[in-house]
Amino acid sequence: MRRRIAISVAAPAMSLVLAGCGVLGASESGDGASPTKGNDVTVGLLLPETANTRYEQFDYPYFKAKVAELTRDQGHVKYANAEASASKQADQMQQMIDDQVDVIVLDAVDAKAAGESVRKAKDAGIPVIAYDRLAEGPIDGYISFDNELVGEVQGRSLVEALGDNAGGSDTIVMMNGSPTDPNAKQFKAGALAELNGKVTIAESYDTKDWKPEEAEANMAEAIGKLGKDNIAGVYAANDGMAGGVIKALEDAGLEDLPPITGQDAELAGVQRIVTGDQYMSVYKSYPLEAESAAEMALARVQGRDIQFDALARDKVDSPTHKGIPAQLVPVVALTRDNIESTVVADGFFEISDICTAAYEAACAEMGLK
Ligand code: GAL
Repeated sequence: MRRRIAISVAAPAMSLVLAGCGVLGASESGDGASPTKGNDVTVGLLLPETANTRYEQFDYPYFKAKVAELTRDQGHVKYANAEASASKQADQMQQMIDDQVDVIVLDAVDAKAAGESVRKAKDAGIPVIAYDRLAEGPIDGYISFDNELVGEVQGRSLVEALGDNAGGSDTIVMMNGSPTDPNAKQFKAGALAELNGKVTIAESYDTKDWKPEEAEANMAEAIGKLGKDNIAGVYAANDGMAGGVIKALEDAGLEDLPPITGQDAELAGVQRIVTGDQYMSVYKSYPLEAESAAEMALARVQGRDIQFDALARDKVDSPTHKGIPAQLVPVVALTRDNIESTVVADGFFEISDICTAAYEAACAEMGLK
């Protein structure tokens, strides 16, 4: 599953391969980590859910391959997926602690609830790297995308799509992510920075566990209140929810869909962009995120502090800890115009994956072949 990663994102993301690039000073949060591990390490990887396809399709396989590469096939990855249950994730984390893995990479279902598990791991001498979502508690580092930027890109795209109509009077509905996911808050803040003053946000929802069916039900409610023909656009925080929003609009009998945003560049989302049902998605390079996470975790547990610091040059604050070393990977908007230069060029999908029978005509129309 090794694929070429050549994306049109800004250069800072590339700072991650700077082994020995001259950053001085030891990491501030190395206490508790065992500094002298060799390649025979076990890395615990905890991912939050399966409803969104990215985790099993990209994050896990890229992470695993990178650990194998960096440890010359001597390292192991213990993987667990919490299927959107915070209590299941706490059990999985406990299991990893009991199994005495060397380092844990955690993408929290519930960032706050995860704090206790992080504390337990730390007490057991196991460093924890927060992955994608900023878990509370004494984590050693954080790797994620620039989540405010995700929201800004979504908000800006929606305003652009509304064009001349965006004079503040256009009514939109906001479908935000899960309230237990701190990223959702950042997506929302980024989006609001672009939307405020330019549109009227008539209804806004937070969506339990990012569930598409919740988004669909909330959208049906919004349509009931506002009327299907009075919604100029929908901010949907990810592709799964964009699917639910579109279903609700179609079920209400709307034929001409308004611009709807998304995130994650899921295959179904990309196909809806091809047909024009969905306006945009946000393309995030999961390989970049997953491989950097593997590098950070190994640098931490193998005591390569200079390299760790070079990988985590940003600083973020969680509600419980300040100045956490972090790496924030940039993102780009995905629209009809750049499907080929993003998801196809990077090997996420073949054109044949996207342009199946039902999409053949739309693909041909836009010259995707
Ligand atoms: C967010 C993540 C997104 C997406 C979402 C669930 O935390 O950043 O990429 O996976 O969860 O759909």
